[in-house]
Amino acid sequence: MSLEEAREWLQSAAAVAVLTGAGISAESGVPTFRGAGGLWRQFRPEDLATPEAFARDPKLVWEFYDCRRELMAKAKPNAAHRALVRLEIQKPHFTLITQNIDGLHELAGSGRVLKLHGDIWRMRCTSCGGNWPDRRVPLPKLPPHCACKGLARPAVVWFGEPLPDGMMREAEHAAAEAQVFLVIGTSAQVYPAAGLIPFAKQAGARVIEINLERTPFSDMVDCALEGPAGELLPQLI
Ligand code: APR
Repeated sequence: MSLEEAREWLQSAAAVAVLTGAGISAESGVPTFRGAGGLWRQFRPEDLATPEAFARDPKLVWEFYDCRRELMAKAKPNAAHRALVRLEIQKPHFTLITQNIDGLHELAGSGRVLKLHGDIWRMRCTSCGGNWPDRRVPLPKLPPHCACKGLARPAVVWFGEPLPDGMMREAEHAAAEAQVFLVIGTSAQVYPAAGLIPFAKQAGARVIEINLERTPFSDMVDCALEGPAGELLPQLI
């Protein structure tokens, strides 16, 4: 399938859902996880992104997240983020489902964003369960604490943890309703998020994938466009 045909599907669709991954923020200078120079090529996720790692060494985990916050605070939305804002305005039914915790979709102006893996700009208390926004960069003291004196953790989803309540149900609903399901910049290796791709296909959506390289679903999707999202998405929308 060509980009032109994919553009026609998108133009004629009233209901669209989008799944994004780290690749959409790569052109904003935010490192991916598994691509070239990816975080999990340099660090072990079991040392930095699991509840066990946090219980073992909360300061080390916070040093990692504080460093990512500093980098993400400098990042600006790119042409791919902006193209999705235009698409949202055009479509009566639109849902943006992201695995990213960087907040760049919202910064670009996206309204309806399902943040499956949480938000690096929010904290959660491990004692009282409080959840609050915090954009201080760098954090004055590591690890940070809640007003209740409880230890604070990043309000993100770590490996082995469930997604926020109801989030997956909302995402599946949007994928099931979509006439076109766009998949942008994800290696489609982390579940349950990656499961949305075959789910949308089975529900009858036309699935369009944008990635620098092939993924486990590239043979299954209706159109696999290989290239940078910042270049291809504006052409598609
Ligand atoms: N345009 C399009 N795709 C890109 C670009 C780009 N400019 N740059 C990189 N990519 C692609 C890579 O080829 C890769 O397939 O983006 C994908 C990024 O994959 P990952 O690094 O695995 O990121 P993601 O799929 O979002 O990871 C899922 O894993 O580590 C956890 O919780 C974390 O949300 C994350 C989840």
